[in-house]
Amino acid sequence: STIFALNGPNLNLLGTREPEIYGSDTLDDISAMVAARASELGLEVDFRQTNHEGTLVDWLHEAHATDAKAILLNAAAYTHTSIALFDAIKAIRVPVIEVHLSDPETREPFRHHSFVEPGAVAVVKGLGAKGYLVALERAAAL
Ligand code: DQA
Repeated sequence: STIFALNGPNLNLLGTREPEIYGSDTLDDISAMVAARASELGLEVDFRQTNHEGTLVDWLHEAHATDAKAILLNAAAYTHTSIALFDAIKAIRVPVIEVHLSDPETREPFRHHSFVEPGAVAVVKGLGAKGYLVALERAAAL
């Protein structure tokens, strides 16, 4: 079954957005890397990005309704603000793996709390784009 890779706000600007923090890969580059590794693993990945909190909630519900195998979730700034995402993760059966390019714990204090983490089965952070591949391997092993 499918693995959802869901990306939140401002991640559409990867490549030019603060490359010293997030690296120079675009989200399309990351999507292509993930797709290549997924096909080696015999998995299908549905890779998406939105700037809208409610859309992320809808996609979490969709992953549940379609019985997805797992969700890789980089909720970006909503990680640190969204009780709605926390509630959605608690409401669904599909395991969520939290992903961040940077390590939010080593950055501004307002990034230290994650509403995703209490519902996640694993957290992969601070590994840049490669973190998506690590998260994919974790999902494959579930
Ligand atoms: C991020 C970290 C978040 O704190 C930030 O708001 C982002 C990206 C990351 O991938 O490092 O937009 O999720």
